[in-house]
Amino acid sequence: MRLRKKPKALSTLMENQHIVIFRPEDKKGKWMDFFKNTNPLYVELGTGKGKFIVENCLKYPTINFIGIDSKYDVLYMALKKALNKEVKNLALIPFNVENIEDVFDKNEVDRLFINFCDPWPKARHAKRRLTNIRFLEKYKSFLKDEALIVFKTDNRVLFDYSIEQFKEAKLDIIDITYDLASEEDPENITTEYEMKFMEKGVKINRLKAVYRP
Ligand SMILES: C[S@@+](CC[C@H](N)C(=O)[O-])C[C@H]1O[C@@H](n2cnc3c(N)ncnc32)[C@H](O)[C@@H]1O
Repeated sequence: MRLRKKPKALSTLMENQHIVIFRPEDKKGKWMDFFKNTNPLYVELGTGKGKFIVENCLKYPTINFIGIDSKYDVLYMALKKALNKEVKNLALIPFNVENIEDVFDKNEVDRLFINFCDPWPKARHAKRRLTNIRFLEKYKSFLKDEALIVFKTDNRVLFDYSIEQFKEAKLDIIDITYDLASEEDPENITTEYEMKFMEKGVKINRLKAVYRP
């Protein structure tokens, strides 16, 4: 994601630590305390500029949402959207998904969204894909039984690869579409990347999988 450096990004994130969590490891197993309720917890990996997660927060006020991204500049934009809409059910975490098992405890997360993650096209970088089995096994360490994983991408090669990874990780794929727009799914909330691709006529792939240990 190419963005001009935002000089105010880090300072604004730091000023809003009621939403932005810099030491998420301290909250592992205690996210209900943070949100002060027992509502379900949905997590988006690589949340980017935040359109998807903020719209979800507004549509589903009785669900808690957490968006994770390693880049301050994009989280800053997500934060601005959240502040603008005064959402109450959101946490944003500047963090590398590589260490995600340090952030959530066993049975803590109800749903996981992976939206347009970086495809890492070179075979030698396959392990960096957020749908590589190495990552899927990390996610299984904190997902509840029957938790849903929803994965969207424009990249058909990554999508086909990911289907095989999900199968290898014994995640139960319950739905696959190779052209999300054609389904006119009223529940679908688009991301920034998704909008960009749809405007260009690129087909969006989506799979849903259930964790049944
Ligand atoms: C291609 S963008 C997609 C953004 C957004 N999900 C969307 O669909 O518009 C991928 C995002 O994932 C973030 N990202 C990639 N690898 C990551 C990692 N290992 N940990 C945290 N964030 C990551 C990037 O910083 C970037 O914001």
